[in-house]
Amino acid sequence: VEQKRYYHERVLDHYNNPRNIGSFDKNLPDVGTATVGAPACGDVMKIQIKVKENIIVDVCFKTFGCGSAIASSSLATEWVKGKTLDQCLEIRNTDIAKHLSLPPVKMHCSMLAEQAIKRAIYDYKVKLEKQQANGEGIP
Ligand code: FES
Ligand code: FES
Repeated sequence: VEQKRYYHERVLDHYNNPRNIGSFDKNLPDVGTATVGAPACGDVMKIQIKVKENIIVDVCFKTFGCGSAIASSSLATEWVKGKTLDQCLEIRNTDIAKHLSLPPVKMHCSMLAEQAIKRAIYDYKVKLEKQQANGEGIP
């Protein structure tokens, strides 16, 4: 008997085989870091990007949270790799939620991933501006 599963198979796939788990040294000049939390449930997601000439060349995440949050962050890391910062800023949580078939109560899990990507990019840009202001050039 086929049972209706709560989680879509893509969520289970990312949950069981998460992509790009890990962390970078957040003090590296080419790394942007963001840690975001969901007030509703207390789950926490960290995403870090490594940028070269405006392109995300590497990315990693650590998520302490539900399966949907882990899947959303894992998927987001796949989507940003190799893209320009501007392209990554266009990633919407609704696209993530649609891809993973998240139910309405799990929308905020995908929101975490969008926020984390945006804030990691912001963190990197602020760092870059400081380096340029100090005459250190682009890493
Ligand atoms: Fe328990 Fe998100 S509410 S893991
Ligand atoms: Fe809160 Fe998924 S991040 S339940």
